[in-house]
Amino acid sequence: MTNKVLVTSALPYANGPIHLGHLVEYIQTDIWVRFLKMMGRDAIYICADDAHGTAIEIKANAEGITPEKLIARFRKEHYEDFLKFSINFDFYGTTHCEENRKWSETLYRAQQRGGHIVSKKIEQTYCSTCKRFLPDRYVKGSCPNCGAEDQYGDSCEICNSTYNPTDLNNAKCSICGSTPARKSSTHEFVRLSDFSDILKEWLANPEHISEGVRRFITQWLKEGLKDWDIMRDSPYFGFPVPGHKDKYFYVWLDAPIGYISNSERWCAQHNRDIKNDYWCNPDTEIYHFIGKDIIYFHTLFWPAMLYAEGLNMPTAVYVHGFLTVEGKKMSKSRGTFITAKTYLEYLDPQYLRYYYASKLADNIDDIDLSLKDFENRVNSELVNKIANLASRAVSFVSKRFAGKLSTVDDTGLALIKKAREAKSEIADLYRSRNYAAAIERICRLADSANLYFQENAPWALIKENPESAKRVCTAGVNISRILAIYLQPVLPDYAEKIRSMLNEKDDQYAWSDVDKLLENRDISPFTRLVEKIEEKKLKQMIEASKEIEEKKEEGPKVPGIEDIIDIKKFIQVDIRAARIAEAELVPDSKKLLKLKIDLGNLGQRTVFAGIKASFPEPGKLVGKTVAVIANLEPRKMKFGTSEGMILAAGKDDAHLSLLELDPSVPPGQRVT
Ligand code: MSP
Ligand code: ZN
Repeated sequence: MTNKVLVTSALPYANGPIHLGHLVEYIQTDIWVRFLKMMGRDAIYICADDAHGTAIEIKANAEGITPEKLIARFRKEHYEDFLKFSINFDFYGTTHCEENRKWSETLYRAQQRGGHIVSKKIEQTYCSTCKRFLPDRYVKGSCPNCGAEDQYGDSCEICNSTYNPTDLNNAKCSICGSTPARKSSTHEFVRLSDFSDILKEWLANPEHISEGVRRFITQWLKEGLKDWDIMRDSPYFGFPVPGHKDKYFYVWLDAPIGYISNSERWCAQHNRDIKNDYWCNPDTEIYHFIGKDIIYFHTLFWPAMLYAEGLNMPTAVYVHGFLTVEGKKMSKSRGTFITAKTYLEYLDPQYLRYYYASKLADNIDDIDLSLKDFENRVNSELVNKIANLASRAVSFVSKRFAGKLSTVDDTGLALIKKAREAKSEIADLYRSRNYAAAIERICRLADSANLYFQENAPWALIKENPESAKRVCTAGVNISRILAIYLQPVLPDYAEKIRSMLNEKDDQYAWSDVDKLLENRDISPFTRLVEKIEEKKLKQMIEASKEIEEKKEEGPKVPGIEDIIDIKKFIQVDIRAARIAEAELVPDSKKLLKLKIDLGNLGQRTVFAGIKASFPEPGKLVGKTVAVIANLEPRKMKFGTSEGMILAAGKDDAHLSLLELDPSVPPGQRVT
């Protein structure tokens, strides 16, 4: 019995789509786990959506739905995208689950018990209109240093200076536009310096982190470990902190705990014990794959949290660099912010898996996707070298030799042996995450096999010596099969196609299958393996990725009109029929009427409408069917919350006509 292995990728935030940057990580991890499984290791791959935090709460608010609904939608989308890229999670959960609440409380209590929690009064930016504290990302203004406009509250993207949100000139709340103030609140912090010694010891082990990652961390250690603020004030979407009012755990406290709770959920389905089998078992190996932006959380906070509760600290944290496209950060205006969905509309996911593998090594260098290089490598290596060999050999056998393999000749056998000899070298390259070198090695094997095929030219040989030609093809098929096994971690679909053409029974190749020789047996007819990348498709994908943002930035200008909205935005306006159920004057308001409107299936809503001057006797409105904008964000007003807008127009407030609909239109029906 070998040790159990638990592998994770970082948990993607549940408020945006999966893009090609994310996929670097999930493809990198998936390749590794697939490799371990081929080696017969008892490995599981656990991931989940990261469902908490301010951004998610605000986004849900803006869409007029509950955060639960929002995170359910994103989780589903993420999971479907991942599946299409053959990311083979053993479990894909969420951080918003009972198990995660329980573990978050447990790990928090461990910090309390150990006396590592300190309370401090802190000042934060606060919007009194929105009645919420604003994270730095939600304050915008001009940079105090260089004056650049529209900069976030923490740092300037133009001059790179960092500052506090209150230093911004002309600071504005990005939700409502009002000027924020400062407000104090008491938060609890984890005194991370209590863990200095244990962390230093953990970090000193070269197995745990690579040299490049250590250099990052050494700098932080030198500066001294700062207390870590683990609380956020209401409103927030997360887990309430036990024993506190209106306080939540900071999303980064419960997010990594999602690794535990979601592996626990897997355990429940597979009759294993979360502690004895995984997080408390000294023989179990735990690996986290992450991007370089979240090193601090995974190499300092996280091991400290685990240590305090007596759980296993990670066996290793593997860090990758960031994806750039054509040497630059992904950008919506350049069309290089490519989502998984957009990619899938134009290209085969195998290309991206192959390309990333051919670029990934055990370091934190950024990975560049250059489209020309992408096209060249996939076409010249994967399609022309690797798949072409398989396609020629298999088609020849099925068309000319009635689908029957014979035996291999001596030269063929020598070549197969050479391919087999690379087995442990390629395995080591996968294990050490040097996929680029593994791919290179596989391509070299394909080169010599192609040469053998070319030199022995079965298509010519068949005329004088069909038996020999058949043996050459049998060798070609066997080498193609070995290459497919070597590539299986990267290209599971490709390997699967080869396996089924060769009528092999198991559902996956094991690494040891390299040593089998297929002779004197029937194979199935050839099926297409992988098509060439068409340049046209790449261009279309970039164009399609551009659309989203460009219109926002530079829409057409119409003289005399300031803000243009495009048709896409216009059709987002959801206009519905509504029956006015009640209508009354609002005491103290000169303009407003308070209306109860009936929207059929969508229920009843309260709307404050500025139509009093035109309809001084509100009772007369009752029973009318009117048009209402139903998807407007609810607006808090002095007299209450208004949950929609009635369509009315006129030359001034006293001459408004309602857009009245035929009474036969059922309430709730869309009317545009
Ligand atoms: N939710 C946190 C992680 C919590 S883990 C307990 C988060 N989410 S994320 O969606 O922003 O990123 C998920 C992973 O994708 C991270 O490891 C991040 O580094 C990686 N990447 C996000 N954008 C990336 C690129 N452009 N390039 C490469 N990796 C990128 O961080
Ligand atoms: Zn505000």
